Amino acid sequence: MVKQTFKKHVTCIGAGYVGGPTMAVIAAKCPDVKVTVVDINAARIAAWESDDLPIFEPGLLDVVKKARGRNLFFSTDVDAAIRSADILFVSVNTPTKTFGEGAGKAADLQYWEKTARNIVKASASDKIIVEKSTLPVRTAHAMERILNANGKGIHFEVASNPEFLAEGSAVKDLLNPDRVLIGTQETKTGLAARKDLVDLYAHWVDRKNIITSNVWSAELSKLAANAFLAQRISSINSMSAFCEKTEADVSEVGYAIGKDNRIGARFLHASVGFGGSCFKKDILNLVYLCERYGLWEVAQYWEYVIRINEYQMTRFVQNMIQAMFNTIAKKRIAILGFAFKANTGDTRESPAIYVTKKLLEEQAHVIITDPKAIANAKIDLAGCKGTFEFASDPYAAVKGAHAIAVCTEWEEYKHLEFKRILKSMEKPAFIFDGRNILDHVRLFEMGFNVFPVGKRPLTHY
Ligand code: NAD
Ligand code: UDX
Repeated sequence: MVKQTFKKHVTCIGAGYVGGPTMAVIAAKCPDVKVTVVDINAARIAAWESDDLPIFEPGLLDVVKKARGRNLFFSTDVDAAIRSADILFVSVNTPTKTFGEGAGKAADLQYWEKTARNIVKASASDKIIVEKSTLPVRTAHAMERILNANGKGIHFEVASNPEFLAEGSAVKDLLNPDRVLIGTQETKTGLAARKDLVDLYAHWVDRKNIITSNVWSAELSKLAANAFLAQRISSINSMSAFCEKTEADVSEVGYAIGKDNRIGARFLHASVGFGGSCFKKDILNLVYLCERYGLWEVAQYWEYVIRINEYQMTRFVQNMIQAMFNTIAKKRIAILGFAFKANTGDTRESPAIYVTKKLLEEQAHVIITDPKAIANAKIDLAGCKGTFEFASDPYAAVKGAHAIAVCTEWEEYKHLEFKRILKSMEKPAFIFDGRNILDHVRLFEMGFNVFPVGKRPLTHY
């Protein structure tokens, strides 16, 4: 057997929602590069090696299968993969700190620092270390200090290459990114690292879409991008509250303003609120950093994006209670969709968690359905007081319900047989469409009382 030789060895530490798909695409597109993805979580690695991947992402299995065993490998031997790497991506989790200084806002960098120390311990040669995780601006400075105090004469060049993929469309985003951002020092070794990283992505990304910058700009651009995206959602959601008071229609307002090229149409869909593992965490981190630099007004400005999101989720539940005659105790309420968005099983910071917990506080009987997220929903609600259950079949979930709350915009919910559903529900039957995905007029004409977000309710009383 001829031993395959590779031009470069890439290792990624962290086989999660980012590390797994990103490295699978790099491997699929760069057959001359050996890619090894490592994690301390053995169950996750075993799942990456199977056809039952640890995360649901449309198209991901095909990409993984294309490269796995050829130039894509998954392993728990972190040290060996560090040692063999020329380029080492670090994609470990950087959640919000829950303890001590900065609790509730700052990024918890313990996994990050542990990885840095592991790299020092296991390395025997120079390496490019790439920040793939989202990090506070100027983390590369701390990273370099830890790494380059190695006492072995090894040079580590730290670069920032933040990831902009969105879950549910990760493969599409990675195959055809709006841009790839590479931040490095502008020194001789920094520029050499920049070239290596640009050449890696240039295997499939047009060079004009690979942009380069200094390290700090790259780190901050990631926080800024998420803050700007979330800000748009909070902006339209704030308008949705105003629409509900004035009979303006938030979809019409969103369409009208989005037609302005300077504003653009995307990320203007009013909803029950934004969720996901990134927006809240990254904005809180931005707020914390601004406060540390004494930029109080800037910190407050961004903090309000989160405040409006919380307001929107609260409003959604308050509207439900008010519409259902100010009591939902013992009423059956079906939650359609628990994932934080469609096409993923991820429920991190999902508005459905908040809605369910509030409904349980009101002593409602909650039935949860979702095509991909029930396993995570069970973990999220473990230990919650109150009556709740799970149903994989949406028709079983809504049977005997007083109300339906749509929390995730799954395509299949648009095509449910609502006549059949209406028959099986208690009357009067309510639908609260937290994603504005249903045909509200048709449902109203069928007999439902319909409460969209940011639009006039359609009621029979
Ligand atoms: P994740 O929790 O799914 O994955 C992180 C993985 O790192 C876990 O499997 C964990 O076991 C592993 N890990 C932690 N410490 C380790 C160590 N010392 N050695 C080896 N493995 C270790 O997280 P994620 O969603 O993939 O996010 C990773 C980073 O990417 C975060 O900084 C996040 O903010 C950022 N990001 C996430 C997204 C997204 O859509 N999820 C998008 C862009 C950026
Ligand atoms: C986000 C960023 O989009 C991505 O670039 C970054 O790398 C990670 O964070 P993600 O959280 O996976 O991606 O999904 P995204 O599509 O941004 O949606 C986030 C939340 O906002 C979801 O709950 C979604 O339903 C909600 N949303 C989005 C709205 O409520 N309205 C919109 O118009 C768009």
